[in-house]
This record gives sequence, C-alpha cells and structure tokens, in this order.
Amino acid sequence: MPRLSTLLAAAVALLIAGSNRGAVAQGAAPAGTAKAKPQRAARRDPPGTYMGRPIAGVMGFEGADWLFRDTREAEEQPDRMLDALKIQPGQTVADIGAGAGYTSLRLARRVGPTGTVLATDVQPQMLQMLQANARTAGVKNIKPIRSTQADTRLPEGQVDLALMVDVYHEASDPEALLVGLKKALKPGGRLVLVEFRGEDPEVPIKPEHKMTLKQVRLELEPQGFVFKESLEFLPWQHIIVFEKPEPGEKKGN
Ligand SMILES: C[S@@+](CC[C@H](N)C(=O)[O-])C[C@H]1O[C@@H](n2cnc3c(N)ncnc32)[C@H](O)[C@@H]1O
Repeated sequence: MPRLSTLLAAAVALLIAGSNRGAVAQGAAPAGTAKAKPQRAARRDPPGTYMGRPIAGVMGFEGADWLFRDTREAEEQPDRMLDALKIQPGQTVADIGAGAGYTSLRLARRVGPTGTVLATDVQPQMLQMLQANARTAGVKNIKPIRSTQADTRLPEGQVDLALMVDVYHEASDPEALLVGLKKALKPGGRLVLVEFRGEDPEVPIKPEHKMTLKQVRLELEPQGFVFKESLEFLPWQHIIVFEKPEPGEKKGN
C-alpha cells in the first residue's frame, strides 16, 4: 500500500500539471521553456467584438455581384490605390479575403508572369468564382488558398505584400489573422488595409463595415506591425500601410 504522504504528493503534482495546461491554453508560456514561441495574449472581449469594435459579419458569396458593381471603379478607384502601393513585377502578393477576384486580377497583371498572387478566402464559393474569372481573363499566376478564420494557410516568410481590401473588419479572429500574416510576410514586407472611413458619416456603408485609423492602429500595432502611413486620396477609403520590421529594427513609429 502506498503511504498517505506519497498519495498526497502525487495529487499535488497532478494539480500543478493541470493548472499549467490551463495557463498555456490562455497564452502563458509554461515554466522552464524560456525559448518557447510567443503566445497569443489572453483576451476577454465580449462575443462578436474585438478591442471595443463590433466585428462585421462575413459578406456572403451570394452577394458577389456587388463586388463587380458598375459604380465600384468610381467609388474605390482600385487602379489608383494599387499605383500608390508600387507593386513590382516578380513579387509575391497575398490578396487576403480575395472574394471573386476583383483585386486579385489587377494584382496578377502588376506582378506579371514571374510573380504570384496568393488569393485567400474563407468561402470556397468565392474562390470558385475567382478561378472562373481568372480563366476568362487568361490570368495564370493566381493561386487560390482556402483559408479559415484561425489560419491564413499562407507559406511562411514568402509574402512581399499582404493586401486586404474591405476585409479586415469581417475577420472574426483578428488576432489569429494578424499572427498568421506576420509569419507569412518577409521581414520588411508590407501589410495594407483598405477600409471605408469610420470617421466619415457621409460614407454610405454600414458602421461595422467601416474602420477608423485610430482603431486600426490600436489593433495592429500590439501585434508587432509598424505603422508607416495612411494614404487619404480615395473618395471613401483609407489605405493604411504597415510593415513587418526587419530583425533588430525599432518597432515603434
Ligand atoms: C467584402 S468582401 C471583399 C472581397 C474582395 N477583397 C474585394 O474587394 O472584392 C470580403 C471577403 O473577405 C472574406 N473574408 C472574411 N474574413 C476573412 C478572413 N479572416 N480570411 C480570409 N477571407 C476572409 C469573405 O469571405 C469575403 O469574400
């Protein structure tokens, strides 16, 4: 028969192991693993919100025609937006939340045959429409990637530019998305959010589908993205540019 003191010691050991598992799940590093990868911070956002912002619902694939509406070019000026980003032939560009490919097709022409567009979306139906649109346009350098809200499914360290056009506000797990994008970018690579201006009540878009610059910075900077600039020449949208710092580069701006 084991002695009472032995049984007590075993019970205490089990309790400690159990509480460590809980701490790891919430983001704390287990004791004695100084080199463990950075963990996601434990957050206590009310459901459907992130850092005080209501998260918008995902725009369903049934509404994809709206993404190719006749007025979009005048409202969003996609070519002026892309000109400002100075995309180079041969680059690897990720179009996050690519939808039916409105921006991916333009990106594909800019990176040219030696470049690649990694077009991600959480809705497979959107990616099917994107592939059909690419075939019709004769574009061969778009790689569709079925992502999830928790996993971008992008290759690590290969992306020069990650672009999100009218998408970030729909991400139901913004922190997982940002952690994934940071891994996918090359050092010095850019993350660009194009978002309808939340500061402007005249922009005719539902409030939860808009973002203020202040809120975007509040959410992205703690994830290690360095704010570079916000370009404000589009009629309705911010173009907000962040960078993944090079190793050893100062993180603040
Ligand atoms: C308003 S549509 C914009 C589509 C496209 N960017 C465009 O401008 O035409 C938003 C898209 O983002 C996708 N989406 C939402 N959350 C996402 C996430 N976390 N990762 C990838 N795609 C996402 C939706 O499925 C939808 O296709």
